[in-house]
Amino acid sequence: MKKNYKNICLTGFMGVGKTSVGQDLAERLGIEFFDTDSIIEEAVDMEIPEIFEKKGEPHFREVEEKIVLDALEKKNVVVALGGGAYLNKKIQNAAKESLVICLSMSIGEFLKRLEEYRETRPVLKGKSIDEVKELYKIRAVCYRNCDLDILVDKLSVKEAVNRILEFTKSKGAASH
Ligand code: S3P
Repeated sequence: MKKNYKNICLTGFMGVGKTSVGQDLAERLGIEFFDTDSIIEEAVDMEIPEIFEKKGEPHFREVEEKIVLDALEKKNVVVALGGGAYLNKKIQNAAKESLVICLSMSIGEFLKRLEEYRETRPVLKGKSIDEVKELYKIRAVCYRNCDLDILVDKLSVKEAVNRILEFTKSKGAASH
């Protein structure tokens, strides 16, 4: 566990609440919050489904890499990543100086919300339940090397934030 970290980075599968938890966490710590998906949308001047549709996923991933690497350079901030960003090895490498927290949701809980999520998450578009389960499995492997994993199934945003704050306090960890 890193005692001194540059910033706090939140990762995890789509729809687990990285943005809400990140916002609340930053507020409680009195530091700035960056949501990389929102920064991408501003930079491209399109919403994410439109970027996928008009420019394609490879273009999205290119912009994502640049924006996430920039965000991870910032000190003493909270950064929430999009669910696919942490698959990128350059991003995983850059996040070695961050306290990386994965918010996890069980596949059962995720599937309950699948239809709602399909509307805003282009990577789910047209995928069968089995394909979604496969994607979930592949992603779960890459999220494993985080500093802290929190199962959010039964947690409110506030409870998830409390867990993070308790964890950093118990380890005497702080941002430098
Ligand atoms: C993606 C997750 C999304 C967004 C994009 C791709 C992914 O972010 O970055 O639709 O590949 O898992 P959320 O995790 O905030 O849904």
